[in-house]
Amino acid sequence: MCDVTRDTPVRKLRFSALRALSDLLDPQHAWRSVATDIRGASGEPRYSQQHIRRFEAVVLQGKSPTMEMLFDWGTTDCTVGDLVEILLRHQLLAAVSVLLPDHSTCHASAGSSGASLSTLQCEAAERPSEACLQACMRPEMITKPVSRPVVMEPDSSSGPEENTWSTTEEGFYTFTHRELTVMTSGWDERPVKHGGCLLGAGGFGVVFRGSMCGGTDVAVKKLNPLDDSSLEDLKTQFNQEIQILRSLKHENLVSMVGFSGDGQHLCLVYEFMPGGSLLERLACADGASALSWLSRCCISAGAARGLQYLHHNNHIHRDVKSGNILLDEDFVPKISDFGLTRASANHSCSTVMTGRIVGTTAYMAPEALRGEITPKSDVFSFGVVLLEILSGLPPVDESRDPKLLMEMKDEIDDEELSLEDFIDGKMQGWRMEEVERMYDVASRCLCEKKNKRPTITEVLSELEDLHHKHPQSSR
Ligand SMILES: Nc1ncnc2c1ncn2[C@@H]1O[C@H](COP(=O)(O)OP(=O)(O)OP(=O)(O)O)[C@@H](O)[C@H]1O
Ligand SMILES: [Mg+2]
Repeated sequence: MCDVTRDTPVRKLRFSALRALSDLLDPQHAWRSVATDIRGASGEPRYSQQHIRRFEAVVLQGKSPTMEMLFDWGTTDCTVGDLVEILLRHQLLAAVSVLLPDHSTCHASAGSSGASLSTLQCEAAERPSEACLQACMRPEMITKPVSRPVVMEPDSSSGPEENTWSTTEEGFYTFTHRELTVMTSGWDERPVKHGGCLLGAGGFGVVFRGSMCGGTDVAVKKLNPLDDSSLEDLKTQFNQEIQILRSLKHENLVSMVGFSGDGQHLCLVYEFMPGGSLLERLACADGASALSWLSRCCISAGAARGLQYLHHNNHIHRDVKSGNILLDEDFVPKISDFGLTRASANHSCSTVMTGRIVGTTAYMAPEALRGEITPKSDVFSFGVVLLEILSGLPPVDESRDPKLLMEMKDEIDDEELSLEDFIDGKMQGWRMEEVERMYDVASRCLCEKKNKRPTITEVLSELEDLHHKHPQSSR
């Protein structure tokens, strides 16, 4: 994207640039503020509310409103400079840096907000990659010295050193890669149970357990570029996750503690979830005891609450699965990775991304496999999670017939398999009438036709009702 200048016509932007912009501006409707600021030849707003609704409606066809808007505006003589001016006025700095990674954010003024972009501490000449990354963040996201620096435990190889952790106004820490190296004992890839720091690996990178001095545990996700993803794509994902995490906060969403982006290493630091993932918990990994029916009711209602919060904030997760539902020490479920799925640039064997299709096949709704993005696809995936909660079975098992858990629903519906035989034999404290209710919710979530599926609010109300039936419901 180095050949893009302020004079480049918007219509000549490459598809990859448009995609990167839409990944940043589609969430939380950031594109709308841009659209309402675009002027026609005589200075009048180019887009009426009706136009804006038309752009909005393309989401239902799985398209990006940002792209639609830019295609339309691009039919005029508008330039990247015009777009950058508007983005700066709205402090959409990550989007600015997608267009003009080096100089725009260092020298331009922040416009109406009055915030000076010099606060970005841009150092493009000396350290381009870090400067670019910093420029991707809003001014309030940029490193500020803390009044009392925290001193790192020294590691044996490097000797004692005072760390440079600092917090932003949102309370995020910025770490250097070196500090994270110390916190994860040199990225010790031995599993935690063997004394190392490895928690697991997924489609976006490897997750390590880290320890901040003072004893707070964190999970550090080191994002991996694969062959098919550039560092630039990864930075887009990274900045998107940060921007989404800063605006979406809920007790049933995993919180972000901080990030690090110096050099080639992009890392996200999350609160540590000692209970691991629901997937591991249902499999009784490491000899853990099976979850009781009460815990399962509580977890399903909590996860639905987190998902409802995302949907109410116009955010579709796109990778709802038991591996992305993490548990704290009290088994409170928290949804993770809601910022990574939109812009994923790489994939594991279970994650599909063809064009803009993102997700995990064993959970994907028919329309999601065709690339359509709708909250109802999250509801479908949640239906698979409910089947896992009921049965304790993995979502896919190559040695099972049928391999996909979602297909076992057909067997139950055809009375080839009884619900009693389907439910987890290790589970204590269940009652048939309640199990039937949860199965009924799962079954409705798994309707082929998305319009026949319940909304997440309807799902939540059923699950809460089920959960509150237990007088002692605390775990
Ligand atoms: N905040 C966390 N606290 C504790 N463990 C975590 C945390 N985040 C992730 N993990 C562990 O790391 C594993 C890998 O997580 P990761 O998100 O990379 O992969 P995934 O969820 O299996 O797949 P995907 O990349 O599609 O999200 C998880 O299964 C979980 O056990
Ligand atoms: Mg995950």
